[in-house]
Amino acid sequence: MNTKSRGPGETESTVGSNNLSHKRGVKSYVLRAGRLTTGQQRALRDLWPLYGVTRPARALHPAEFFAQAAPVNMEIGFGNGDNLVAMAVAAPDENFLGVEVHEPGVGHCLLKIEEAGATNVRLIRHDAIEVLRDWLVDHSLARVNLFFPDPWHKKRHHKRRIVQPEFTRLLARKLQPGGMLHIVTDWPDYAEHIAAILAQNPEFETLDNTPGDRITTRFDTRGKRLGHSNWERAWCTRSKLPIPT
Ligand SMILES: C[S@@+](CC[C@H](N)C(=O)[O-])C[C@H]1O[C@@H](n2cnc3c(N)ncnc32)[C@H](O)[C@@H]1O
Repeated sequence: MNTKSRGPGETESTVGSNNLSHKRGVKSYVLRAGRLTTGQQRALRDLWPLYGVTRPARALHPAEFFAQAAPVNMEIGFGNGDNLVAMAVAAPDENFLGVEVHEPGVGHCLLKIEEAGATNVRLIRHDAIEVLRDWLVDHSLARVNLFFPDPWHKKRHHKRRIVQPEFTRLLARKLQPGGMLHIVTDWPDYAEHIAAILAQNPEFETLDNTPGDRITTRFDTRGKRLGHSNWERAWCTRSKLPIPT
């Protein structure tokens, strides 16, 4: 796999604290100092070396993180990873790259990977924006999934919402031509914000249908409990690769 080992025991301040993070400034997350269970600690110690990816020395094609040459689907903010692992198990001929900053979630997901015996999942514990921008070469992702991104309700926090014009431009660059972006939220005003931002980006075309391959997670359940209904959309990129000379 690759380079500098980071992982278990890494303090919260080290996530995204490399010399590029300050350029972005506003983060779409706040790291909570969650307690690790004994199982999560074991997973971070023993399983991270098998499934964890650390920052490469230069931008790579994400297929290099995996054992099989196959399309790479990225899930941004996978939470505890239940959906990521379920999708990977359901599509063994594809690769699944999960990016999450919350350490207990990464530990939980490692345990799920082990339990499922999934060999087509890799995890990154870092700010997804920086991963997209600096770790991956352009036009290398088949699909990006963003399920229940943090809604950041207060107006003064809207700048923290991960979906911003710059984010969609970055995604358009990192997705393959015809690559897919799939987003779900249960917050109507975030849905409006997302729809408006995607509509402004000429690189994305709205698809008529959304894929039916994600599983119900605790955010689906919580939304239902709050009386919300999900807003779910998918887009594909129109971007064309430069014609080789
Ligand atoms: C509301 S939770 C949803 C979790 C999961 N998608 C689900 O449906 O269960 C949002 C998650 O996104 C993660 N997150 C937010 N911004 C992120 C970023 N820039 N990079 C990686 N993870 C991020 C948070 O840590 C959090 O776990």
